[in-house]
Amino acid sequence: MAVDLLLGLQWGDEGKGKIVDVLTQNYDIIARFQGGPNAGHTLIFDGFKHVLHTIPSGIFHKTAMNVVGNGVVIDPVIFKKELENLDKHNIDYTSKLLISRKAHLILPTHRLLDAASETSKGKAKIGSTLKGIGPTYMDKTGRNGMRVGDLELDNWKEKYDALTAKHISMLNYFDVQVDYNLKELEAEFCKGIDKLRTLEFIDSEEYFSNAMKNGKTILAEGAQGSLLDIDFGTYPFVTSSNTTAAGACTGLGVAPNRIGEVYGIFKAYTTRVGSGPFPTELFDEVGETMGRVGNEFGATTGRKRRCGWLDLIALKYAVEINGVTQLMMMKGDVLSGFETLKIATSYNYKGKEIKHLPYNIEPENVTVNYTEFKGWKADLTEMTSAESLPKNLIAYINFIEKETGVPVKIVSVGPDRKQTIMR
Ligand code: IMP
Repeated sequence: MAVDLLLGLQWGDEGKGKIVDVLTQNYDIIARFQGGPNAGHTLIFDGFKHVLHTIPSGIFHKTAMNVVGNGVVIDPVIFKKELENLDKHNIDYTSKLLISRKAHLILPTHRLLDAASETSKGKAKIGSTLKGIGPTYMDKTGRNGMRVGDLELDNWKEKYDALTAKHISMLNYFDVQVDYNLKELEAEFCKGIDKLRTLEFIDSEEYFSNAMKNGKTILAEGAQGSLLDIDFGTYPFVTSSNTTAAGACTGLGVAPNRIGEVYGIFKAYTTRVGSGPFPTELFDEVGETMGRVGNEFGATTGRKRRCGWLDLIALKYAVEINGVTQLMMMKGDVLSGFETLKIATSYNYKGKEIKHLPYNIEPENVTVNYTEFKGWKADLTEMTSAESLPKNLIAYINFIEKETGVPVKIVSVGPDRKQTIMR
């Protein structure tokens, strides 16, 4: 069997958690392959809202197995809190949650380094979630990191102490003050490690290889979005992992020719949290309304998300680099009530009209040309069939399908599992 992928096509927060939850019934295994507690995947069902950061969104399904792959970075402190939240809801995860030995650990000092690095950047800050993501991936590629498998070694504490000491000395290089109590941080970390140890550690590449041989269906759940990819995103305002399709191969140990469907998720408009260019950003009442109606606040940090029109140039770019085979459009309901809707269809760049994403998309380099669409008034949130969708929304979707060459298979009309229309 192939591994299907589910990826965000914008700057994250597209609603991946909800769709994984909807699709889980079709899969035996759900796997996370990159990112870490910077992600916040929200699932709403049976009157409860659950936010997952590191744990795959299949954990609420009765039988699905959930794997945290080698490409993920795990903060044992946050992970423990996530598990305790599951305990509160009587979710039995011990037999359903497996952790790759090759996943890297976020140490308390990684978080301190993240804070020092961001503060020292001043106005040029990335807008990081400050979860230690960048410093942990730096240690990974710098070949200094600590991995989950190290916890099975007798000398893991020595390794931890050496890396922590190095980080503390690195903190001195920054021209900023970071207050911390290492003893307290370490005590919390060790409790997190104890909790992590209650789960099974696996060699995930071997696990997936056997699962595929045994005909198991696997869904890889991406985090963040394609425009935050370390290589193809709006660098340096990106995260530190490959959020695109290729990241699933390296982040799970699955060969490229084993990838099957690639589900691409996008919002009917665009949002972004943190700093960085955003050509279709709105600074007016329309943007305010999108944010208010769409409840656009970060699931991890609570920060207000920036809002703007759908950027088709960026969407086509994401469809292409990921090899998307099916699209899923989220939050169409938020656009109800606007007289006119706009989709960015070309940029003006260095005196020319272009239809691809150029190297620089900062406001001084790019202005946007839009195609306008008639809006619709109807409330979509109670709708249950594709036939009931307003004709102006269907025209909006048809345009996206024609331009990207990929069918829009799901239209989400609200946060609940039930508010999902299949086309
Ligand atoms: P970091 O990965 O926490 O260092 O953050 C780097 C950039 O990616 C910042 O602009 C964050 O706001 C953004 N980012 C990280 N994770 C997410 C996410 O899950 N959703 C949306 N934006 C994210």
